[in-house]
Amino acid sequence: MPRPDPADARLDGLRRRLKGLAYGGDYNPEQWPAATWREDVSLMREAGVNLVTVGVWSWGQLEPRPGHYEFGWLDEVMDLLAEAGVGVDLATPTAAPPSWLAHEQPETLPVDGEGRRIAFGSRCQYCQSSPVFRYHAARITERLAERYAGHPALAMWHIGNEYGGFGCHCPASVAHFRRWLADRYSTVDALNEAWGTAFWGQRYDSFDHIGTPAPRSRLISGPNPGQLLDFQRFCDAAALECYIAERDIVRRHSPELPITTNFMGSFKHLDYWRWAAEEDVVSLDIYAGPLDPDGPALAAYNFDLMRSLRGGKPWLMLESATGNNLTDGRNYARPAGQLRVRSLQAVARGADSVMFFQWRASRAGAERYHSAMVPHGGTRTRTWREVTALGRDVARLGEVAGDANDQADVAIVWDWENWWAVEGPDHPSNDLRLSDRLMDHYRPLWDANIAVDFVGPRDELGGYRLLVVPNLYLVDDVGADNLTAYVRAGGHLLMSYFSGIVDEFDRVRPGGHPGAFRDLLGIDIDDFSPLPPGDSRSLHYAGYSGTATDWQDIIDLVGAEPLATYTDGELKGGSAATRHRLGNGTATYLGTSPDRETLRRLLLDIVGDAGVAPVLDTPQGVEAVRRGAYLFLLNHTADEATVDLGALPHQAVDLLGADTQPAVTDGLHLPPFGVAVLHDTPGVES
Ligand code: GLA
Repeated sequence: MPRPDPADARLDGLRRRLKGLAYGGDYNPEQWPAATWREDVSLMREAGVNLVTVGVWSWGQLEPRPGHYEFGWLDEVMDLLAEAGVGVDLATPTAAPPSWLAHEQPETLPVDGEGRRIAFGSRCQYCQSSPVFRYHAARITERLAERYAGHPALAMWHIGNEYGGFGCHCPASVAHFRRWLADRYSTVDALNEAWGTAFWGQRYDSFDHIGTPAPRSRLISGPNPGQLLDFQRFCDAAALECYIAERDIVRRHSPELPITTNFMGSFKHLDYWRWAAEEDVVSLDIYAGPLDPDGPALAAYNFDLMRSLRGGKPWLMLESATGNNLTDGRNYARPAGQLRVRSLQAVARGADSVMFFQWRASRAGAERYHSAMVPHGGTRTRTWREVTALGRDVARLGEVAGDANDQADVAIVWDWENWWAVEGPDHPSNDLRLSDRLMDHYRPLWDANIAVDFVGPRDELGGYRLLVVPNLYLVDDVGADNLTAYVRAGGHLLMSYFSGIVDEFDRVRPGGHPGAFRDLLGIDIDDFSPLPPGDSRSLHYAGYSGTATDWQDIIDLVGAEPLATYTDGELKGGSAATRHRLGNGTATYLGTSPDRETLRRLLLDIVGDAGVAPVLDTPQGVEAVRRGAYLFLLNHTADEATVDLGALPHQAVDLLGADTQPAVTDGLHLPPFGVAVLHDTPGVES
């Protein structure tokens, strides 16, 4: 029997308090006079807001001078919110240290790879290894936690903000890196072995001789890949230490409340598998561009990743944008009506909240043109009308809160250490971007309404019918054996090029490529043959003529059969894709990056072979997702759509329908950007 997870009870408590899904956003009252707070609270009630994230950027206001605290304004805000029944996700304000800390203790400021200290004037300007920063961060956290524990508005805790894990090169960081390496390797000889320092005579005699990796611009030739990879691991670990230190302080004061820190989805620098294990609930900030045609697929990909990080449990969407977000050179308005479908898409994929950055648009500061729930034009705006309507929809979906999405039949392998290694320098091609490649494999599944989870290479895989493994360059023996055993036991697997090449220290596996997966795939790779940028080759797959770009493996078959073949170029007649039966399962290998249509066909053929069915067949641009007993139908297009529900076993009721909640029996009409949430009515056969 698995041990009960104490996080579950904390989240039950939150759900009871919210009476359903959370609705709200980041609230930064310190930017406004007290009179505005009263208006805020009344507008929050009007919009159906029940949870706000407070205090993320308020260290400078809470502790304007070292050791001098001004909590009066926050007391008043917390009291106002409590009276209005709005819960607070209270943030430790440590993502933006105050100016006095930078001024009086400049050693807390980070140093870049060129040795330059970053000046105060933005946010996140701290060295995560600095004992001085950590001391001050712990002190403000302690004061905040002791003061507000038990406050009637306090619903949960939010630690820092969007930890970045970016490397610092100051003396404190170098010393910390050395300690971390000594812990990891015990002896410097073990480190020499792992980093392969016999190459270029880089052997170390003491941990004290090791520095942080120099930037490439300062090097005469390439850096040591083992050192780079370990520095990435170290930066992640140092950031996690900062989070854990604050979490533990808060936990002492509020043991009954959930604690989170907001993630950035497919963000490279932090190993969110490890982070999620230290949280009560995973939470996400998502900013998929309103006009990006890939926006809904990208959002779904991030949502599925968040849900997967804690084994499918509900998660929180803590930030999104009501309209434009400031990420591009041009920041586009959201088309009228799109807000609803983009927001409820998160709920479909397991979110127990719809929340935004931010409640009220700022008058000043870098993000004054970022959209908000209350825009500069206030309640006269279309955004406000859509925000209040969305609040009503979120309330109607209250019964969904806490329900988990079922485990999917398909899983995609996601591993951060591999990400760090595969995008390291001095590879046969340095153009591979893992997140793009993962998305290439996810997109056709999303388009076809095939539910997907993400898993680590060492996870329990038995429940999945199909495992998709894009570019798993770095894998340890445990992970490699796990994937091989999965196929032997009857699983279907699709792996793509540059996989199984190195061990966990980024050392090439002996005996030729694809090292860890030669037996699994039944192939030898004679050589890697990247294609020049913009160049392509033709290939033939199951009656379809497609193209290959970026990369070609020169494949020798040693047990596998050819599945796709090059039809021109030097490798004409050679295999672009192969299939190998191993034990009771099948391993398919893709030795190139094919065009979208070829990949779609190949993937969906394997989906069919694996016996995986879509949630529902829907028109292009209409997404179907099942969350427990609820079927979400989301029209991401600006056109009307009709969905054929013929295959559904039961009559269903649309939770978002008219007050009478008419039963939906066959064709379901969705207006532009329309959403329906159907609840099975068991026992009523259609
Ligand atoms: C992030 C941050 C917010 C805000 C938004 C919008 O998610 O957490 O503070 O900066 O981006 O840009």
